[in-house]
Order: sequence, then structure tokens, then C-alpha cells
Amino acid sequence: MLYIGIDLGTSAVKLLLVNEKGKILSDVSEEYPLFFPQAGWSEQNPEDWYNAVIKGLDKLLGGVDKLQIKGIGIGGQMHGLVILDKEDNVIRPAILWNDGRTEKQVEFLNNTIGRDKLSEYTANIAFAGFTAPKILWVKENEPENFNRISKIMLPKDYIAYRLTGVHSCDYSDASGMLLLDVKNKCWSAEMLEICGVKKEQLPALYESYDSVGTVKTEIAEQFGLKDVTVVAGAGDNAAAAIGTGTVGEGKCNISLGTSGTIFISSEGFGVDNQNALHSFAHADGNYHLMGCMLSAASCNKWFMDDILCDRDYSALQSKITDEMLGRNNVYFLPYLMGERSPINDTNARGTFTGLTMDTSREDMLLAVLEGVAFAIRDSFEKAKELGIKIEASNICGGGAKSPLWQKILANVLGIRLDKVKTEQGPGYGGAILAMVGTGAYKNVHEACSRLVEISSSVYPDEKLTALYDKKYKNFSRLYPALKDIFKELKS
Ligand code: XUL
Repeated sequence: MLYIGIDLGTSAVKLLLVNEKGKILSDVSEEYPLFFPQAGWSEQNPEDWYNAVIKGLDKLLGGVDKLQIKGIGIGGQMHGLVILDKEDNVIRPAILWNDGRTEKQVEFLNNTIGRDKLSEYTANIAFAGFTAPKILWVKENEPENFNRISKIMLPKDYIAYRLTGVHSCDYSDASGMLLLDVKNKCWSAEMLEICGVKKEQLPALYESYDSVGTVKTEIAEQFGLKDVTVVAGAGDNAAAAIGTGTVGEGKCNISLGTSGTIFISSEGFGVDNQNALHSFAHADGNYHLMGCMLSAASCNKWFMDDILCDRDYSALQSKITDEMLGRNNVYFLPYLMGERSPINDTNARGTFTGLTMDTSREDMLLAVLEGVAFAIRDSFEKAKELGIKIEASNICGGGAKSPLWQKILANVLGIRLDKVKTEQGPGYGGAILAMVGTGAYKNVHEACSRLVEISSSVYPDEKLTALYDKKYKNFSRLYPALKDIFKELKS
């Protein structure tokens, strides 16, 4: 039997065709535009996602025995606000996870409603990218759109809806809306009241591996499919965690994609008492803690594509020698879209510090790669403060393809980093969820232990870790020193 895993990302959708033994038979990727209508705003058209999925399916399924296809699972960019009217038409472009327009609404939620209350209702506090502050933003700034809302959805759920006609959401992705009582896995009546939302406007909740329906007749006929189940799927980080086998107590996955995340799975519910790390449901039916930085691999892309105008990423990285690691005097703050974890500051901005006449392109690139690794360490330190011991982590995402970046990260964190054979985290996780949902495996844990294999590991070096420890201390002083200036820049 065959399964389709879909990763609905920020720059493109990636589709995988996988057999029940976990072998990826083919993959395709379709890009779509990302709009920044104002500084710090970030939007996409749900119709562009759907068209890209259909185009991708068409390419993926060419020459395949369609009757072998049993299930589809989607991992998607989290937190995005998709609103539909009563005819199920999209009311306005989706407001994405890295959009920073909701400073005022976040302030209201965290300070007027209060962090303690939010944490009690949802296990989390408000961050600009979360869905609830965006609903409040639409309510205040676009009341005519707010009044037309019949359904509120997340990005991957919009695709599942177009494929099946069912409005669904899984617990991992719903956790990032700040509308879910994460501990009890139900919508929070208090949060719905605060946001002026009715339960009927929200989708039905499922575990990630639950079937939500089958592919609609007209789409099935278009592709020659028969009785294909669509499972609820997961937020892309939870899906990536499944795809890298990050399940069970205290396992860790780091994703270096457009965003950078550190994801710690756990068997029971837990909250970070400082709310610096998100407390969300996992796609295996359990829970996880997560820190998310808004610009990770996108910092490298920005520096190479837009600043150096050089698309040969590996050629420039190959000029960075081992002797340069841990000795760079240039620092980079990676806050190109503001920052989420742990500083929660939409005004934060990127900076280079320590430039001299002899600073080279390589020094600056190294600073970018190191700056992202230090920012991941910020969340890693928060996990350590909670008493969580992380000795190793899986690593995935576009940035993880760089051996140099892996080495930097392993030494900045002082832990072993493992790469798994199948690198397509969220898409592969989506396919695994589809396998579980259609009965190929008993549960997610069984599927992961049978399908996911480590292919290589990077070990930290004691001397280099010590050098990076010193540098991290300097890095940590930069944001507090610049915070007020960033605020002024905004005003
Ligand atoms: C997680 C987050 C990002 C997006 C990226 O909280 O906002 O990782 O899911 O697609």
C-alpha cells in the first residue's frame, strides 16, 4: 500500500509518496508566494496552497498505481489564521505564524487578561504569531471581515477541508491557537469568550492519526483514487518529530527550517512555569514542550540571496575552516522577523556586531550560522532550567543539510546531533500518521520504531564547546543591550 505525506511549508508544499515499509518512492515540491504587506506582516493565499497541492499531487501520482494509495497525512505551518465565510469562501489572506502585527493584542492578553489566567486556560501565554491574538486583530481592525467569519481554520486543515469537505483540526496544531485547553484537549470556553468566538466556528478536534474523512468524489475521480483516507495530521513541528522518531519521554528534535525549533517530547502534560517554552499536545497522543525562533535557515537564505547575491551556499561555507570556529569576533542577532522564544519581542531586529576593516564575507556568514545556533541555545537553556536533561537531539530541516551548521550547533549546545535516513521531517511524519490511521501500524510509537533509522551523528568537541560557551555569554548580552533601541526603531 502507498501513503502520501504532505508538508505545507512557508515557501513551498512538499509531497512524498511512501510505501508501508517507509521507503520514499518519490517527492515533489511546489512553491507559492509569501507576502509582506507591511514591515513585520506575513501573509499567504490559502488558494495558492491548495493549487500547489493539486499540482503536486498530479506530478507525484504520474505513473503510479492509484488504487494502492490508502491514506494522506498533512503536516503544516502552524498558527496561521484562515477564515471562511458561510459559503466556505476564504475571507482574507491567511495571517501567518511569523506575522508580528498583533503587539497590541498580545499586550492585552498577557497583561490585561494576564499571563496566569492564559496559562491556566491554555497552558501557554500569548505570542504574536499565535492564532488568538490574530482573531482579536481582525476583530479590531477589520470588523466587516470578523462579522463574516463562519469557520476559523489552520493552514493544513484548510487543505484537509478542501480534500474531504470536513472541518477538522488535530490537538498538536490546535495547541498553537491559544484557544485550546491543552491539558484537557478541548476548546477553552474562557478563551473563546475573550476572543468573541463561538465553538461552532471552530473545527472538530481529533488525534493526529485519526481519520477525518475520505478524499471527495470529484478529486478522487480527477486522480483515479479510491477510498483514500485523510488523517487529521499535525502542526509541522509535531509532524517532523514523528518523522524523526522523536516520541517518548525526553526525546528532542531540532528543526532548522524557515523557523528554528527545539521540540522536547514527553509522555505526560507539563508546563514551563515561565511560559518561555510552549506547552503543546504531540501527534503521538502525548505532549511536548517547544521553543521557536522565527528566522533560522531564513537568515542564511537572506544573507546569501539578498545581501551577497550568491546562491552557492556550500561553496562559501566550504571556505569556513575548522580553525575559524569558536574564534569569530562577529556576532549576529537573528531577529529578522522579531523573535518568539524565549524573548517574545516583535520589535527585536537583526544586527551584526564586531565588524572591522578585515571582516570577510566568511566571517559574516559564520556569524549568521552561529547566531541562529545561539538563539536555539536560548530555548535549550530554558529547558535545562526546567530540569530537562538533553544529551542528544535529532536534527532536520533545510539548514540541517549543512555539515558546517550541524557541527556549529552540536558544539554550541554541547550535545550529539543525529540525522535520520529520511530527511523530510513533516512530510514523512504526515505519511506515518496516515499509515497509523489506516491500520498499517498499531500506533505512532510502533510505526516510528519500525520505520525511522539514524543515518549519521555529529559529536561535540570539548575544546570547541568551551570556546562557544564563552561566545554564547557575549551573544546573550547583546539583545538586552539593544532592546530599547529596537523599540525606538519601531516607533
Ligand atoms: C512553531 C512555528 C513555526 C511554524 C513554521 O510554533 O510557528 O515552526 O510552524 O512552519
